[in-house]
Amino acid sequence: MPRHPAEPWRIKMVEPLRTITRDQRQQALQEAGYNITLLRSEDVYIDLYTDSGTNAMSDRQWAAMMSGDEAYAGARSFYRLEAAVREHYGYEHLIPTHQGRGAENILSRILIRPGHHVPGNMYFTTTRAHQELNGATFHDVIIDEAHDPSCDHPFKGDVDLVKLDRLIRDVGPDRIPYVSVAATVNMAGGQPISLANLTQVHELAHHHGILVILDAARAVENAWFIKQREKGWHEHSVAAILREICARTDGAAMSAKKDSYANIGGWLALRDPYLAEQAQGLVVLYEGLHTYGGMAGRDMEAIAVGIAESVQDENIRARIDQVAYLGQQLIGAELPLVQPLGGHAVCIDAAATLPHIPREEFPAQTLAAALYLDSGVRAAERGAVSAGRDPATGENRYPRLELIRLTIPRRVYTRSHMDLVADSAIHVHKQRDRLTSGLAFTHEPETLRFFQARFAPTTPNSALNHPA
Ligand code: F0G
Repeated sequence: MPRHPAEPWRIKMVEPLRTITRDQRQQALQEAGYNITLLRSEDVYIDLYTDSGTNAMSDRQWAAMMSGDEAYAGARSFYRLEAAVREHYGYEHLIPTHQGRGAENILSRILIRPGHHVPGNMYFTTTRAHQELNGATFHDVIIDEAHDPSCDHPFKGDVDLVKLDRLIRDVGPDRIPYVSVAATVNMAGGQPISLANLTQVHELAHHHGILVILDAARAVENAWFIKQREKGWHEHSVAAILREICARTDGAAMSAKKDSYANIGGWLALRDPYLAEQAQGLVVLYEGLHTYGGMAGRDMEAIAVGIAESVQDENIRARIDQVAYLGQQLIGAELPLVQPLGGHAVCIDAAATLPHIPREEFPAQTLAAALYLDSGVRAAERGAVSAGRDPATGENRYPRLELIRLTIPRRVYTRSHMDLVADSAIHVHKQRDRLTSGLAFTHEPETLRFFQARFAPTTPNSALNHPA
């Protein structure tokens, strides 16, 4: 066997990349209000902002797109997607949506009432925002280890059953419509939940008549970790493990822009026909008729093929290997990373990198800006800016994890790109003492502020304002 088994695909089409000078990046960063989200993508060299919708599709997916049925009602492409979800995820009722958050909206509207409480294994930005918009309070019931970047627990996505049980007792099962279980946990750095833990969550929730709803965006990646790390599952295929994960849940919200190698799309799936009918009624209002839900027929075709590709062991292995390849280089250079390495991203602990910058000056946002300035690599901020303010108190939330996320799009970049990213991240790390101050808001939107916020360096002589 070669040291690193090669990717199980070759490249048929390429997209040229543009490089710009450091002075041009300096200007682009200023124009973007030091928010990497507001950069134009053509000013970015290697874009690791997200793995969402940034996938390279296969020739099979492109071919399937040509056979998309664009009928308004009852499109053949819907039934193909429904069959793929039934086969690989095992849910009976499928409600298509334009992307994951469309499914979160419908789900939250049918299940949540004001005064409800939703426990989950750490929050995700849009997921929690929809829960809160519908009047619920979110409760993080993930194990404590998930909040410690250096802890190498193999299943940092596990739910703390004591915390979950306590919440059920405190507020009463009637006020908990469902447990929101993510696999993997994005905000913890792509950390998996174990099947053993999910089984216990399912038993505890069902004992109290509470549903379990899966965030399935990266459940295939989670299945791979179960195969690698959980006793008794090594001989099972990723496809079989994925079905086992879903079997322990009552439904799922899916962003097909992740695991399924698509550029857009999503779905909500439910086992209960009564709930499914309610969701089908609402999807018409917010997304589109219940057989397209905001997607073109061709999008549903691409997802149906993508689902089947995503569960092939060699594809998911190559995916996780690439993340590990980048991560190992950074570990070798002693960068403080979230351990163990996650499924979709390598996360750098910005609070540990820049301990001299107070949390109020957003070390992760600052580090992401510095990395872009150095090489044109765009990471994502996953710390206090993403966490927003507490809706009750209006105070900034300061999660223990203050990270920048180097998120790897699927089948898009090569090992040389990863080498370049590693070199730049290591270079910025070595020069971290030059970053003596952070950033402050000059504009702070009310909802999901990290997308549109603008910042300025807190000191005029900030390294973010200087040539290399
Ligand atoms: N759930 C998780 C775990 C996600 O990571 C995302 C999106 C969503 C739901 C929402 O899905 O984008 O299709 O509406 N995550 C992207 C990211 C945006 O960069 O992490 P969507």
